[in-house]
Amino acid sequence: MSRRQGRCFTALFLIAGAAILAGCNAEEYLTASLEPTQGNSATGEVRFYRVDTGVRVVASVSGLTPGKHGFHLHEKGDCSAPDAMSAGGHYNPLGAPHGSPDASRAARHLGDLGNLNADASGKASYDRVDSLLAYADLTGLSVLVHGKEDDLTSQPAGNAGPRIACGVVKARE
Ligand code: CU
Ligand code: ZN
Repeated sequence: MSRRQGRCFTALFLIAGAAILAGCNAEEYLTASLEPTQGNSATGEVRFYRVDTGVRVVASVSGLTPGKHGFHLHEKGDCSAPDAMSAGGHYNPLGAPHGSPDASRAARHLGDLGNLNADASGKASYDRVDSLLAYADLTGLSVLVHGKEDDLTSQPAGNAGPRIACGVVKARE
């Protein structure tokens, strides 16, 4: 084997090894790709990880106006309507009132994730463990971002205004 061929085989071996390692380390999570509704510009990704204490929700969203934006899981995985009204109401399998994500099971919708808080450049990140969500129940729901702040009190949806971005929760591809 020439030196040149030897180098090539070494490179192939390293690439194959890296690919196998990446496969073994692949983390399982669910993801929702947020697309803007008609007339809006917010985009981003939300990931859901199974953790010992519940579900870790990690979001990165841009194209927002600075400040707070209601952030919820909604009951239908359907973002097809131009205003995302097709996603239905807040995910609320227990028939509870709307509330804060820190409230008890009886005092919040399970879909109540609170607010994203966008900086001056319109970017928001969110990273929170929700002890009431069940990972196995999330596929097929949707994640919505709203134009206004969720006041965590008003019924039925925190007076958070229009739906500005929507994404369906799916297994990672
Ligand atoms: Cu909502
Ligand atoms: Zn709610």
